[in-house]
Amino acid sequence: MAIASERALGRWENEGGSLARALRDQFPGVRDWHYLDTAATAQKPQAVIDAVSRAMGEDYATVHRGVYARSANMTLAYEAARRRVAEFIGGRENDIVFVRGATEAINLVAQCYPEKGRVLLSQLEHHSNIVPWQLAGYDIDICPLTADGRIDLDAAEAMLTPEHRMVSFAHVSNVLGSVLDAKRAAALAHKVGAKLLLDGCQAVPRLPVDVAGLDCDFYVFSAHKLYGPTGIGALWGRQELLDAMPPYQGGGSMIDRVTFEKTTYAPAPTRFEAGTPAIVEAMGLRAAIDYVDNIGLDAIHAHETELVRQTRDALRSINSITLHGPEDAAGIVSFSMEGVHPHDIGTILDEEGVAIRAGHHCAQPLMEYLGVPATARASFGIYNDESDVAALVRGLERVKRIFG
Ligand code: ALA
Repeated sequence: MAIASERALGRWENEGGSLARALRDQFPGVRDWHYLDTAATAQKPQAVIDAVSRAMGEDYATVHRGVYARSANMTLAYEAARRRVAEFIGGRENDIVFVRGATEAINLVAQCYPEKGRVLLSQLEHHSNIVPWQLAGYDIDICPLTADGRIDLDAAEAMLTPEHRMVSFAHVSNVLGSVLDAKRAAALAHKVGAKLLLDGCQAVPRLPVDVAGLDCDFYVFSAHKLYGPTGIGALWGRQELLDAMPPYQGGGSMIDRVTFEKTTYAPAPTRFEAGTPAIVEAMGLRAAIDYVDNIGLDAIHAHETELVRQTRDALRSINSITLHGPEDAAGIVSFSMEGVHPHDIGTILDEEGVAIRAGHHCAQPLMEYLGVPATARASFGIYNDESDVAALVRGLERVKRIFG
């Protein structure tokens, strides 16, 4: 861990990506592979793998139930993980609910937020920020995008009315990498009395996030995109909003007192965590936050922005490629190649040892808007460097030769 703990800010760019190469050795899943699918799921550093292994092994015990010392220690560690998440995104620990992932977090808010009515979503949302609102019976309005693929906040301002109870936007698009002006979105939502939920799945691994500064009302993310384990994520909500929400699921832990006649519930966040929680995963998430925090989100953002710039410049020189999304996208480059299905691009790149995602990226309404069935998407993580960009470009030149 010596390299990460030196705090890499600045060294990354100065040494031409050498830090990324050094970091790569700490990720068993990316050695000798050009992994460009971090937006789908990030590879895990050894520090996270070790934390999960310890939590499943010598430290393993239940939480909130045992009177023996091991369980008490695990409970302390589980609650410390909650504090770590709160500190990482600028919230209070009692306002962090552990969930299975961002999908469950959005479902929880859509089902439990007491004021139903209209929700404003955008054209670029992931299915997990569309379907939960449909299931919960909201009336949905769709905010269009600007020509370069950002949520058009001028249009949002014109569309919002006091009937809107909620605005729910991606902080960073999983397809286009566009970064939302979240503070302005919050101001617009609040002006009409609506709340703002931000889907932070792609933002939390790529940008410094401070929920208080953003002035949002709910913030959700998944650990597995933040170099942590699958099966856990976090919902942050303003205390008064969480307090006003009924439980999502019933079971052990979330209660105050149970009789056959009537049950009373624990306060938030416990009220929303029925059943034995994801103890092991919480230890992994805590280790993942320590890991990225040690490198620094500003440094990660600068590094990924530079890789996006290199990639966009290189792909522009391949004349059959159309780039989607804005120039200053965060860590993600989506593109189409004339006459070649993205799945064929993905398959040929795989033969070259380059892993990208090809498909609709769980954003079918966005594909329709772009007028394409699917796109090819390269997404970066802290272990990528210019050698991955070069491998992608070499692979795409081969695709062009095959289909040319
Ligand atoms: N949301 C994930 C992606 O964009 C699954 O690939």
